Amino acid sequence: MREKEFKRILVTSALPYANGPIHIGHLAGAYLPADLYCRYQRLMGRDVVYVCGSDEYGVAIVVRALGEGTKPQAIIDRYHPLIKRSFAAFGMSFDHYGRTSSPVHTDTSQDFFRRLASRNIFVLKTDAQLYDPAAGVFLADRFVKGTCPLCGYEEAYGDQCEHCGTSLSPSEIINPRSMLSDAVPERKETTHWYLPLGDWQARLEAYVAAHPEWKPNVLGQIGAWFNDGLRDRAITRDVPWGVPVPPDVAEAAGVEAHGKVIYVWFDAPIGYISATREWAARQGDPSLWERYWKDSASKLIHFIGKDNIVFHTLMFPTMLMGYGDYVVPSEVPANEFLTIEGKKLSTSRGWAIWLHEYLEAFPPDFLRYALAATLPESKDADFSWKEFQARVNSELADILGNFVNRALTFAEKEFGNTVPPLGSPSVRDRDALDRLAAFPARIGAAYERFRFREAVGMAMDVARLGNKYFNDCQPWKTRKSDRQACANTIHVALQICAALSVLVEPVVPFTARKLRAMLRLEGVRSSMPAGHADAWIEWNDAGSALLKAGHALGRRSLLFTKVEDAAIEAQIAQLSGQPGDVVSALPYADPKNTVDYDTFAQLDLRMGTVLSAEHVKKSKKLLRLEVDLGYEKRQVLAGVAQHFEAASLVGRRVVAVANLAPRKMRGLLSQGMLLMAEDREGRLSIVTADGEDGSVVR
Ligand code: MF3
Ligand code: ZN
Repeated sequence: MREKEFKRILVTSALPYANGPIHIGHLAGAYLPADLYCRYQRLMGRDVVYVCGSDEYGVAIVVRALGEGTKPQAIIDRYHPLIKRSFAAFGMSFDHYGRTSSPVHTDTSQDFFRRLASRNIFVLKTDAQLYDPAAGVFLADRFVKGTCPLCGYEEAYGDQCEHCGTSLSPSEIINPRSMLSDAVPERKETTHWYLPLGDWQARLEAYVAAHPEWKPNVLGQIGAWFNDGLRDRAITRDVPWGVPVPPDVAEAAGVEAHGKVIYVWFDAPIGYISATREWAARQGDPSLWERYWKDSASKLIHFIGKDNIVFHTLMFPTMLMGYGDYVVPSEVPANEFLTIEGKKLSTSRGWAIWLHEYLEAFPPDFLRYALAATLPESKDADFSWKEFQARVNSELADILGNFVNRALTFAEKEFGNTVPPLGSPSVRDRDALDRLAAFPARIGAAYERFRFREAVGMAMDVARLGNKYFNDCQPWKTRKSDRQACANTIHVALQICAALSVLVEPVVPFTARKLRAMLRLEGVRSSMPAGHADAWIEWNDAGSALLKAGHALGRRSLLFTKVEDAAIEAQIAQLSGQPGDVVSALPYADPKNTVDYDTFAQLDLRMGTVLSAEHVKKSKKLLRLEVDLGYEKRQVLAGVAQHFEAASLVGRRVVAVANLAPRKMRGLLSQGMLLMAEDREGRLSIVTADGEDGSVVR
């Protein structure tokens, strides 16, 4: 390989927007391939850190919140935990899963913006942009809908036409309408920061030219961008949700900072850096992240879907080069798209398979394997439930599961559940062991080149080798006629099982662990982050005999249960239904300990009416309420600003805890608390009753 030696690898998967659950299109694009790669690299003993997190800004999240009559914060607080949990259940081996609403991310993004601004890398431009006079808001990105200037589709968004795929800017939309009020927008002057990518084109071309090994789909897209000529890209927005433009930078530029945020596609990739910083802090070594981002011996790899190529190969590298000191991405293995049952995946039409719903029906390894075997690596690929069933039943169960079961059954019945000794191996025995020895390097080479379908196919070839060897040796005959030959067959077959327990680990880690328990094989390096200090078996050791003669095996059980037709039909019927019910995947709050009546009776609960409500200065969460309890008025500070519009609370009938010890917050005294019901998504509703103010609630 002409590649230079790297000491460590930093892997990222595109940060998913926290405005909906994960579906298999996401998994096939940016998540499963990265996980396969990282697990393989960890088994190789390499220093790898794998970060991801939720992308929590952007107009799409605001639009979603508006549609649900809630706030963006409530949307991200619902989906971030759901996504994080379903990724974990699927076996995603992140070293850290962050979120872009974190304070560390605000800092990191603002620092980037500030440094690039101070190096005069940005340009400022003032022009007339669409403005909604009714809502008093500039209409960036998806705040506008209207007719696509290219294809005439009438429901195009301000930033993209989903019909023809063209990316647009709001001012290009014909007959624009505001998503906020349906008003016809006006034009109003506003000033924004732009990243002049054109200034960087020569440097970017040189950077890309140094990577002829990148996938043709990636190079093809970049080539088209270069041909068009790179243009200035606005990197700030007038929207109420995002990382604020640093006030000092705005002031220096003579621009009013209030209401201006950094464009989501500027801050989101910085989220990779923020996540690495958070990871380092959690390791107890806060500066550790710099080794991954700033040392030229680090290899930075971004796993993404093809719609993200321009941001990761042109825009983010420009930002990194502009900042200085940072490494730039070494590899950007972007995948094409996944179709489902031959049709384009569409979340709005319900044509999707949701991860949290899948996990209710089948084990994670089935989908990991079926998807890995059909990844859209170089062109779009299709997922079908019938093929899923076939992959599980006739490959996982019939090839891998069956081979393991045959070998272990023989060992148990014929050799006291131990590994029989190998004595005077035959040509066939030696040939099987020789072939086995070649696999780790061959499979590894496929992983190194991001050819995951091939890698997973070759791992299954190890089980095929095992089955063929077993059949050719006919141990069911030699068990009577030639005990040593039979022992040799089972010895070799068990070594193949042990090798498999390492070589299939990246793709079916839950199964591999089960297999190692059945073999009582210990000391294999973990493919999960950290914690393999006492391991002595690595990926490349899988080609040699891992089990000693006489080694006692564990309890045998079936590795896989087959997928029945009925289960598949149920899944097919579910397609094109409505987008998944995410609530069912969320846990209920834990029950609390029992208290006696006297404890309960100590609370003085009263009916009251909210007289006024306003935001507490410098607090995102607190509202200052004045509540009439009939016999007196109280000031109550409630942490509900992210759930309710202040004005909407005035006049609401509430239940107050009237004898709660007063507490100071932000210099204000809170004299009580209001009862709220919090559902599984963290949504609040006010507890109320009919009684007059001052009534005792009990
Ligand atoms: N949220 C984006 C998407 O789903 C991806 C962001 S990738 C990052 O398309 F680099 F910006 F983080
Ligand atoms: Zn169009």
